[in-house]
Amino acid sequence: PVLVIDYGAQYAQLIARRVREAGVYSEIVPHTLATEKILAKNPAAIVLSGGPSSVYAEGAPAGDKALFEAGVPIFGICYGFQLMTQTLGGTVSHTGRREYGATDATLCAENSSFLTGTPKVQNVWMSHGDSVSAAPEGFEVLATTPGADVAAMVDEGRKLGGVQWHPEVNNSDYGQQALENFLYNIAGVEKSWSTGNIIEEQVEKIREQVGSARVICALSGGVDSSVAAALVHKAVGDQLTCFFIDHGLLRQGEREQVENDYASTMGIKVVTIDESERFLTALSGLTDPEEKRKAIGREFIRSFEDAQRKLIEEASGEGGEIKFLVQGTLYPDVVESGGGEGAANIKSHHNVGGLPEDMTFELVEPLRTLFKDEVRAIGRELGVPEKIVARQPFPGPGLGIRIIGEVTFDRLETLRAADAIAREELTKAGLDEEIWQCPVVLLADVRSVGVQGDGRTYGHPIVLRPVSSEDAMTADWTRLPYDVLARISNRITNEVSEVNRVVLDVTSKPPGTIEWE
Ligand code: XMP
Repeated sequence: PVLVIDYGAQYAQLIARRVREAGVYSEIVPHTLATEKILAKNPAAIVLSGGPSSVYAEGAPAGDKALFEAGVPIFGICYGFQLMTQTLGGTVSHTGRREYGATDATLCAENSSFLTGTPKVQNVWMSHGDSVSAAPEGFEVLATTPGADVAAMVDEGRKLGGVQWHPEVNNSDYGQQALENFLYNIAGVEKSWSTGNIIEEQVEKIREQVGSARVICALSGGVDSSVAAALVHKAVGDQLTCFFIDHGLLRQGEREQVENDYASTMGIKVVTIDESERFLTALSGLTDPEEKRKAIGREFIRSFEDAQRKLIEEASGEGGEIKFLVQGTLYPDVVESGGGEGAANIKSHHNVGGLPEDMTFELVEPLRTLFKDEVRAIGRELGVPEKIVARQPFPGPGLGIRIIGEVTFDRLETLRAADAIAREELTKAGLDEEIWQCPVVLLADVRSVGVQGDGRTYGHPIVLRPVSSEDAMTADWTRLPYDVLARISNRITNEVSEVNRVVLDVTSKPPGTIEWE
């Protein structure tokens, strides 16, 4: 793989994606990982990410000379670029010339295969305080910017190089090209990452992991679990049994829709289990988001354990225990649940941080290193129907984390009604593709005064949270047309009796997350 060493960057994820887009598998490792361990992973190249520190700050992640001397090609970005400079004997200075946002980089060496094919003056995106004033010995300076005398450099012999700007963000016009040039022209990496070979590799891995044992899968109707199931099915065929848990936190008509979709198109048998009582009981009295998430994660597993027991009884012991559970966990779920070493726990995704400790299943998670759009591409290649592959994300904990306050049956009914209206109007307006997803949230503990039919009302607000995103790691609020918003608001306040106000969430992620809990 190409390893991305994360120095606390906002963009480590994005760098990993861009490397994969370039056609090479990549993984993120924390900067705290020892050099031997990094090298033991046999990286084809290493990318050093940006980071919040100054290389001079106390406690700033240090560079290890051994890493640069191991013969592995290394590409430094922003902080990583400065770290490379400092470690190899160049100079990083506090010039006071900070650069944030767009600036022009001017190339000063014509013949380098690193920035070849990019214009002499190009728009790049910067975010730095310190800058490199002298490159280390052996390096050629390739570009400058108003705030950095050395904004790009390379040592083709040692296969080391870097840029002060952020090539991974779209705002750097030739960022992807610089990255690909480095990987192919300087590092000599080979293209190897395509949906075809991810599938082959995963099928192989799944077979190795489960052998001839039986496996159950937790299907939700969404993209991730469906693609995971399709992959496992390809690997082990009828050793797989799929369950769909109706936890009572689904949207209107969702259970029927999921059952139909699978029955008509996937060719995988799915058993529905109604567990709504169990989940409602577990959620009773809970208002803290993490407690709710953990309760839901736990009850999911308990439901599967029951299903497993029944399955074994039915087969009268034949086939023995079922110890494998397939989940459609994605890379961002793992990272956001604090699974990337050193990463903060933002929220416990039900299938990662929300799992109970005494769980006896061994997990099969073939998508654990992938991003959503990669999963969609794999799904298409596996023949998962477009209807499922293109579905907007819906979180496993469902409406349970879209009721702010305690979850009760009546509140769920209120939210279901409002959500159905919003979805219907967005679909009618042809906006489904433009929107990544649009959570509809019920502020169950908030009331406001309204007037309806000459009378006073004291009802609850509904929040609309339409977002646009590439991978849910970052998002912006979608600028929906006012007339669509007006229709949704009118209909919800007229048709849903407990609701007398509709508000629009206009927060990007960060600082907000997509879901409210
Ligand atoms: P946040 O709220 O973290 O959401 O910005 C990012 C994406 O993940 C979805 N989400 C979940 N999906 N289990 C899931 O399967 C969860 O526990 C969970 N929490 C959030 C959310 O809908 C968005 O697409």
